[in-house]
Amino acid sequence: MSSFTVSIVDTVTFEGQKPGTSGLRKAAKIFQQEHYTENFIQAIFEAVGDNLFGSTLVVGGDGRYYGRDVIEKIIKIAAANGISKLLVGQNGIFSTPAVSTVIRKYKTIGGIVLTASHNPGGPNGDFGIKFNCENGGPASDSITNKIYDITKTLKKYKIVPELSVDIDKIQCVTVQVDGKPFTIDVIDSVNDYINLMKEIFDFSSIKKLLQGNDEHLPFKILINSMNGVTGPYVKQIFGKELSVSDSNLVNSTPKEDFGGLHPDPNLTYAADFVNDVKTGLYDFGAAFDGDGDRNMIIGKKAFFVNPSDSLAVLAANLNVIPYFQKVGVKGYARSMPTGAAVDRVAKSTNIECFEVPTGWKYFGNLMDAGLISLCGEESFGTGSNHIREKDGIWTSLAWLNIIASHRKSIEEILLNHWCTYGRNFFTRYDYENCDIDAANKMMKYVEELMKESDFVGRKFTSHNKTYIIKEADNYSYKDPIDGSVASKQGLRILFEDSSRIIFRLSGTGSAGATIRLYIESYEADSSTYLRDPQTVLKPLVDISLELSKLGEFTGRNEPTVIT
Ligand code: G6P
Ligand code: ZN
Repeated sequence: MSSFTVSIVDTVTFEGQKPGTSGLRKAAKIFQQEHYTENFIQAIFEAVGDNLFGSTLVVGGDGRYYGRDVIEKIIKIAAANGISKLLVGQNGIFSTPAVSTVIRKYKTIGGIVLTASHNPGGPNGDFGIKFNCENGGPASDSITNKIYDITKTLKKYKIVPELSVDIDKIQCVTVQVDGKPFTIDVIDSVNDYINLMKEIFDFSSIKKLLQGNDEHLPFKILINSMNGVTGPYVKQIFGKELSVSDSNLVNSTPKEDFGGLHPDPNLTYAADFVNDVKTGLYDFGAAFDGDGDRNMIIGKKAFFVNPSDSLAVLAANLNVIPYFQKVGVKGYARSMPTGAAVDRVAKSTNIECFEVPTGWKYFGNLMDAGLISLCGEESFGTGSNHIREKDGIWTSLAWLNIIASHRKSIEEILLNHWCTYGRNFFTRYDYENCDIDAANKMMKYVEELMKESDFVGRKFTSHNKTYIIKEADNYSYKDPIDGSVASKQGLRILFEDSSRIIFRLSGTGSAGATIRLYIESYEADSSTYLRDPQTVLKPLVDISLELSKLGEFTGRNEPTVIT
């Protein structure tokens, strides 16, 4: 057995190593600075503290540029910090949901996910490092704050410079580090995840749907992995298990720069995919982001399923999915800006529904406490208590399982849903890469406005529609399990008819500030259900832009992305 010794390296501290909504995310070039990445990894390990000694950790990422180098660094630094074993995905690949699966299955102390999610990759793109805890979910604010505090004073890190392992080969290697064994187990990146999916869903009924029979035509699907990490998972699940032809599984080889794509499955960045489905050739389309936790679902001719509706439809139909038949359905949850369609399903079935701040980490405690089974966000994320991350492939299989059971098109399922519950029209406007000062000034301006004594009760009229303000605040959340408080989570303006306007600054961007404007309005008149949300919500959009002076502050007349 080879033996190695630990070196202690004097380092310089870096400013700004503060994890955002989902880990530390910066330009790859920033991570490539000497000591920058090493410092952050050392800080993660110090934040975990004594529990680290003798523990096992999962490591892998979305295959983006610089990931392999960072895995090499993690191996060397983990070995030096007393960790006993690393479970590394072959070729350094693990989707975010797969990391969560592996942490939970092997009961490890946590994992490190190397991804900047849906942000572009490559030498000029972004990179990211996220720490997940033993429940398989993103670390809580208290841990990420601790990591950040440590980075501010870090003077040294520990490393085993000579240690290197071939991660392209499935193998289990044990070496001695200062006399103690350290194991690197390179495992198949997809097996554990696929086994979990097969336990959850009815693969044989999905297969029958896809293949068709005397009564039904084959149900044609198009799956687009956007050159991200889901490719190998999609090839196994859809290609091998469900016999979908290769030509229907596109962009399914992970690329370091996502082939130049912006791997964010929304109507703007996945426009080519939407156009492919618009042709009418497919009954169903699903696209996933770089690390595989986000999804976009569209029906025939690209009938768009808003993520807030997706969550509500899943909630209303969980009973057809074998996993939920077995474990039952507890509560639901959504992030604050997410459309409240799911609340209506919860109400009608007498199931509790929670509202949390933006960020998947806020669902973790509720799931661990057994309070929720399903949750989702407007930002193209849905998932369940099978793991502690949102899960793109899971969502597409859930939809297919539901379609297989009802034998209805996506459009029919949505229309039925709205006819039962009414429709929460929802849209989000993103103003990306704004000047940071300008964005902060605008937020401050709106917040001050909200504090004016006569703000509540104020009336706004636009396009013959009048809205009266019922409540306004900067959203704050107290976790019902551990009592921790997350404040300043977005400016909410709530109207008497339950319409909402929300202003929030993104926590995942890496350049400038991204302002998000979320607009929601409820309609119970069935003649409106098939109307374009942009038309229905136009009055509220205009009111928001006027009220916030967004254009004046930022110089932006149009959003970068509309959902
Ligand atoms: C990531 C997180 C999500 C969150 C989203 C919001 O995808 O995993 O839980 O909803 O970021 O991002 P934002 O840019 O709005 O802060
Ligand atoms: Zn992601």
